[in-house]
Amino acid sequence: MINDLSQNDFEKLANNFTKYISDYLENISEKDVLPQIKPGWLKSQFSEFPPTQGESLENILKEIDEKIIPAMTHWNHPKFMAYFNSTASSAGVLGEYLAAAFNTNAMVWKSSPASTELEEAMLLWYKNLLGLPYFFDAIIYDTASISSLHAIACAREKAYPQIIRNEGLSGNSKIPKMRIYVSEEAHSSIEKSAITLGIGIQNVRKIPTDNNFSMIPKELQKAIEEDRNNGFLPIAVVATVGTTSTTSIDPVDKIGEITQKENIWLHIDAAYGGSALVTSEMQYIKNGWEFADSIVINPHKWMFIPIDLSVLFIRDKKILKQAFSIIPEYLKTEVDDIATNFMDYGIQLGRRFRSLKLWFTIKYYGKSGLERIISNHLQLAKKLKKIIEQDERFEILAPVHFSTLCFRAKNPYNENKITTNQFNQELIDLINNTKKVFLSHTNVKNQFMIRIVISGLKTTENDVFEVWEIIKEEYNKLLIKYTL
Ligand SMILES: Cc1ncc(COP(=O)(O)O)c(C=O)c1O
Repeated sequence: MINDLSQNDFEKLANNFTKYISDYLENISEKDVLPQIKPGWLKSQFSEFPPTQGESLENILKEIDEKIIPAMTHWNHPKFMAYFNSTASSAGVLGEYLAAAFNTNAMVWKSSPASTELEEAMLLWYKNLLGLPYFFDAIIYDTASISSLHAIACAREKAYPQIIRNEGLSGNSKIPKMRIYVSEEAHSSIEKSAITLGIGIQNVRKIPTDNNFSMIPKELQKAIEEDRNNGFLPIAVVATVGTTSTTSIDPVDKIGEITQKENIWLHIDAAYGGSALVTSEMQYIKNGWEFADSIVINPHKWMFIPIDLSVLFIRDKKILKQAFSIIPEYLKTEVDDIATNFMDYGIQLGRRFRSLKLWFTIKYYGKSGLERIISNHLQLAKKLKKIIEQDERFEILAPVHFSTLCFRAKNPYNENKITTNQFNQELIDLINNTKKVFLSHTNVKNQFMIRIVISGLKTTENDVFEVWEIIKEEYNKLLIKYTL
């Protein structure tokens, strides 16, 4: 047996796979969005031990149909409208394919000049695509959680240059308790950063929000002053533009004035919302971003890049290097003074060739193509909002800034037979049990909300209308259940 597939076998198999993938993507709307299986089913399809002798891959597509497809929640499905749905463009899929084949590891420039420099070139394209201030540098990580972790590590490094990095936090009497400020609606990834960086969840202060679920700047100012008086050290504020639950927008301009005055790092989490900047109508969300020290945006959330690809924009990239760079002998090269070695700018050493899929996708659509698709999502959300507002059985619960709607059914029983939250919990369960659509929920200020996210590449106006019909049908079934 040779060490890899022969060229002929590879071509044959790859052609079969290409056909399989194109059929999968083309016909995805005929499938149920959600699988029927119970936890443990797929695992039980595999024996405990791997094959002793290698086997032909000839029949692997059959196994994919038998084992993998029945266990799939189809993120590319036009009626996947849960979480922040991210769909993969074919251009992005091809970028991933090539990245796997090239199999570069861009630890340092020399280990992959192509990957290093394409990343730099694409980040410049991406910054200009979104119209971000020229002074931001950028770097690709896998997810927003990791981008934000690096941003907060920079805030910590800025507060105590070289001290925590060298001496650590444990037992260090020089370091007072640090504090990070987020709104009540911030993503849990910031608390995970606090866990990882030794700051502690208790030191992530959640600032109250107003009726639109946006951080109240006065409350932020008050919390910072209170903390300083009590001997804490405020190091970072995270403002969210497009929160996970309701896509609310924190007032970054007002928050920025505070962080500037207080000399605190300002990180903006626009993991989902940032992609809307490809449209002219959404430019207003950038208000105050000139104050930011760092911003995270995930092209994998709403720019049709296959998972994963997150971009951290950073004003002063040197701080990342100061926080993380360690150069072991075997990674020293003769061009270290003039080239970028991405290993210096974060925790990981090895890095995938993610910029290929960013290149393919931006090149294929161009700014105008991306703007057309995302504007269409925004318009569809506005249309659906109107439809929901006109139906007296339902109500919209949060401002619709982007392409996400939060709504609920009004409780026809006035909390007598069932609470409104429970009624809506049952409603979403019925909706998702149809498997025809996948919606997710949230609970904000003790209100259970059903969320609809319209960001699929294949999602059409018809899909949105059909989903609304499913919601109403299931609502009627629920009425029957409680009337009987
Ligand atoms: C606002 C926001 N920030 C961060 C994240 C975390 O994203 P990731 O899965 O890329 O870490 C999410 C996830 O939905 C999010 O909505």
